[in-house]
Amino acid sequence: DRQGFAHFMLKEIYEQPDVVRQCLAAYLKPGWDSDQDASLSSNPFNLALPDELFATVSEIQLVACGTSRHASLVAQYWFEQLAGIPTRVRSASEFVSAPFPLARNTLTIAVTQSGETADTLAAIAAAKRRSSPAESSLQSWLLGITNQSESSLTKAVDYTLPTLAGTEVGVAATKTFMAQLVVFCCLALEFAFRRQALSPQQLAPTIAALRSLPDQIETTLQHQHEPIQTIAQTFANVKDCIVLGRGINHAIALEGALKLKETTYIHAEGYAGGEFMHGPIALLDATVPVIAIAPAGSVYDSMLANTEKAKANGAPLIGITTVTEPADRTVFAHPLTVPAIDELLSPFLTVVPLQLLAYTIAVQRGLDVDRPRNITKTLTR
Ligand code: BG6
Repeated sequence: DRQGFAHFMLKEIYEQPDVVRQCLAAYLKPGWDSDQDASLSSNPFNLALPDELFATVSEIQLVACGTSRHASLVAQYWFEQLAGIPTRVRSASEFVSAPFPLARNTLTIAVTQSGETADTLAAIAAAKRRSSPAESSLQSWLLGITNQSESSLTKAVDYTLPTLAGTEVGVAATKTFMAQLVVFCCLALEFAFRRQALSPQQLAPTIAALRSLPDQIETTLQHQHEPIQTIAQTFANVKDCIVLGRGINHAIALEGALKLKETTYIHAEGYAGGEFMHGPIALLDATVPVIAIAPAGSVYDSMLANTEKAKANGAPLIGITTVTEPADRTVFAHPLTVPAIDELLSPFLTVVPLQLLAYTIAVQRGLDVDRPRNITKTLTR
């Protein structure tokens, strides 16, 4: 039931505030941040994973495909930058033939909305074989993150963290990506807390920011409607589009480009802002719009420098920026603003305009947005 929405994809985009609420209700203990003195030294998370896992893991490897791989790339940033744990991400299909060198106390996390993607299951089977008794000195842990708590994945792993997004019908993943981010963020923060990479006092504002996310996603959704209609009309017929991001939003640039490819069939490329300058910038002209993900934060200035170069090459500029940076309006012909947010949490908001833009352009082009050509929701073979 689309509940009055024209398509499942749009309904699922609008369900994201509730999905975040549900995941936080499951994984964050209530009241931790309000009862300062009594509880700040206690663990605010509810992930139900063994203490030994948190104590012993020295490396994390993430295997996934498509949108789930992009959530893993955001998570890599959190595991490394918040918890200080070396983390690698590999496409599940590549992991099978070229696994990472196995290190002691590795946590392998397989991420799949469906729990049935063949390559991801093959990757987890390969990881399992390698941690067989013959190599048992290399203790390893297998964790699944999935939206299907009864799936082939859950049978294959030691532990599962469900993403609690409800059924996703649209082929282009939206709300399950959002739920994967919530689960990953809680996991990275629990590692950071237990390993004292973050003190309770440092953690408190981040937990408060997580609790504000549903409202902030709602605000983001409200702000996009009008400007996105205009952008979709202006760029409905382009053939190519570039999405740039830096730092944690590099992964969101990849995800935004994937959403555009899947639903609009526009050739969209996601790039790290800096890397784009090393050659691909030659692609730009007035027919190739550039979407720059430039929320306030440490990479803001370098993102603006990228966009100015893009502008000098004649590219029309769409900017995803924070409301607190009014100067952006002059740089970007088409600003899309998100509420002010800590840079590390910004992917929760910056992805939303990209989802809506892909959806709106697909509708504008008259395409079957819930069932794009040539792709299936779950690739089981
Ligand atoms: C693809 C879908 O085939 O599978 C993508 O078209 C999806 O949208 C990918 O991201 C991975 O799916 P899952 O279920 O493993 O997350």
